This record gives sequence, structure tokens and C-alpha cells, in this order.
Amino acid sequence: MTLAYQSGFGNEFATEALPGALPVGRNSPQRCPYGLYAEQLSGTAFTAPRHQNHRSWLYRIRPSAMHGAFELLPEGAFHNVFGDGPVSPEQMRWNPLPAPTAPTDFLDGLYTMAGNGGPGAGVGVGIHLYAANRSMQGRYFYDADGELLIVPQQGRLVIRTEFGVLEVEPQEIALIPRGIRFAVDLPDGEARGYVCENLGAGLRLPDLGPIGSNGLANPRDFLAPVAAWEDVEGDFELVAKFDGRLWRAAIGHSPLDVVAWHGNHVPCKYDLRRFNTIGSISYDHPDPSIFLVLTSPSDTPGVGNMDFVIFPPRILAMEDTFRPPWFHRNVASEFMGLVHGAYDAKADGFVPGGASLHNSFTGHGPDAETFEKASAADTSKPHYIRDTMAFMFESRAVLRPTAQAVAAAHRQRQYVACWHGLKKHFNQDKR
Ligand SMILES: [Fe+2]
Repeated sequence: MTLAYQSGFGNEFATEALPGALPVGRNSPQRCPYGLYAEQLSGTAFTAPRHQNHRSWLYRIRPSAMHGAFELLPEGAFHNVFGDGPVSPEQMRWNPLPAPTAPTDFLDGLYTMAGNGGPGAGVGVGIHLYAANRSMQGRYFYDADGELLIVPQQGRLVIRTEFGVLEVEPQEIALIPRGIRFAVDLPDGEARGYVCENLGAGLRLPDLGPIGSNGLANPRDFLAPVAAWEDVEGDFELVAKFDGRLWRAAIGHSPLDVVAWHGNHVPCKYDLRRFNTIGSISYDHPDPSIFLVLTSPSDTPGVGNMDFVIFPPRILAMEDTFRPPWFHRNVASEFMGLVHGAYDAKADGFVPGGASLHNSFTGHGPDAETFEKASAADTSKPHYIRDTMAFMFESRAVLRPTAQAVAAAHRQRQYVACWHGLKKHFNQDKR
């Protein structure tokens, strides 16, 4: 399948799958071309400042109001129940989510790992994994609580949305803003990956400061779909995530029936391999904020509700410097995943599809083997890290692991032992 895309982040796009389907000069004409219905989808308050205002106009076969009554679905593994009990500050790490044994689609394959805040408050984050083995058949989903940042780790996803079709493969990401209806097909059969459900302000590109007008993730590399509609009828279901819970309604047609649209509240994808990685060419590491792809700002300037950071392939040239990530403790809480290859702070144990959680002010950093190797490395020569793609969902608030994540059989309960082999090198008589 060859798909067409439009390039840019936050742009005002306009696209029509039939010639003349987009009304000219007005958003809501008395009669739309081709007998379509006009409908606005607002992702921000009507009165948000113009540069932060997100909305789109959809020209569709049927309005989105046409479906049956909603009924509550039983509680499953995908939720926003982060609890109010004690959270251990212990470092935690997990093996990949086991592949499902029964037929499981993307929606049923979602498994909540951690989070904070909640949909009612409009702040915080839900962190989920997915493991699935079949396409969504006759069901459609939307998340009213948060935008979805989808990070495939294994298997491609074909995401059919109201706005058109996105195909994403591992090392690419998809961003589905709040409220947009979609279905996920799995062209490779099995699929596995990570989802960050951002409950706060919408993700945006960070400011660049002295870096200048280019660098990090460049806006032109974000790709939005072109309009593509489905005109099919049947006994389908529409699943909504609303106020932290899943609801279902019968729907007699595909809600992906938008023939033309314009606006800037749109899904998009981005290839992480296009990230322009910046680093030191003298000594030391800059802070990992140089690896920031997208940020969800909070009410406090400079402090993210949620940040999406990657650790991509790069060349380490710093002399007389400990080149892996340093030992550190942060006010922020860090949930990490590995999409591809190996991560340079760990010799083993952190595998593609796995995850780790280092909460606020919990010490972490390289394991013993990595420390010894890096301390003896020849830093007069550059070191090439070619085969890697790690990432972090970072939050200003404590990330509360779910009960199912803490109790999971695939959790590595001895993770903290990876630092036990660090030797005492101190000798007050030898400088
Ligand atoms: Fe860290």
C-alpha cells in the first residue's frame, strides 16, 4: 500500500478525497458538496490563543452523533486506575509483555503500566503497553481523555482514522489527538509496542533556544494523512475511553467516513530516525533535554506535564569524559522503553520491548559492567552508537505503577542488583 501524506507539525492542512468536496470560503455552507455533513472537532478551548488553538472541520457521510446508546464495559487491563496506596521508590524493570495466546486486537491488547493525574483533572499521563495479534474487526475506538502517542516496537500498524490512513513501523511514532476515531490493522500479524496517553496539554515541538531554527525533530518530518473515506455498513461497535473507563455503543456504519477535511487538530506520524541528534563536541554530556522530541507543557513554565525523549544512534566524541549516561537522580519520573538494539547504559537485561521505571529522586545510571568498561575506554577516539533506539516518557509527577505491573510475572524483581557489583575504588592516599 502506498499512502500519501502532508508534511508539517501543527499546520493548517486541507485535503479532499473527491474533487470539490471541501467547501470554499465557508466552513458550514447551507448545503455541502456531495451531500456531506459538516462537523467541527475542537481539540482546544474555543478561546485558546490562536497559536495554540487546534480544531478541524470534517465533511462526512454521517455525523458522529449517529450510534446506539453507550454501555459500560467491564474493567480490563487498560485503564487509568493509578491508586492512592504506597508507591515503592525502588527501581523497576520488566521483560516484554508476553504475546497473547488468544485472538487479541490492538484495543484488547492494551495493558496499563503506570501513570499519574487523571482524565477528570486534565493533567497527568497514562503509560500503556500493547501486545496484539489481529486487526480490529468491525470496531472503532476514540480516547476522549488524552492524546495517544503510539511507539511500535514490533510489527507495523496501519491506523485507519477519520482523517485518513497512517502506516507506522518500529522506529516511527504515531500521534492521535483526543477524540479522533480510528481502527488499527496489523499487516505483520503480531504487534507489540508502547502507548503514552497524554492527559494534559497537547504535545508540541519544544523551543530551540540557542540551537537556532533547525534541529532536534524538524517540523517537515511530521506527516499527516490525506483524506480517505470508508462507506461501509454493518453491525459494528464504537468503543470510547471516557473519564477513565471504556464504553461501547453499537454503530451501523464505519465512522471513518470523512471525505474531506481541513484544520490543525490532526493525527500524524514521525520517523525517529530523522531526529537531528545534538551533543557535546568538547567534554561532558549536555542534559538529556537535547533529546526532547515532543513536550506537553504544564502550567509551570519550562516544566513538562509529560516529555517524550529518545536516545537515538549518535557519535560520542567527548574527550576525558565518562561517555555513557551519568549516575543521576531527577525531580522528574522516568519510564523508559527500548524499540531497537541495545541501550548504552546497560550491559544486559534491558531488552527491546522491555521497560523500566525510575521515579522521582531514585538513583540510577549505568550498571557495574558498563561503568568499568566506560571508565577504561580510550576517549581520544569517537565512539559510534549505531544500533539503538531507546526512549523515555518523562513526567513531572510520580509515576504510579499499576497493581498489575508490580505483580506481573514478567517483572525483573532482582533489577536493583545490577548496581550491586559496583566496586569501591576510593583510596584517600592515591589521587
Ligand atoms: Fe534517568
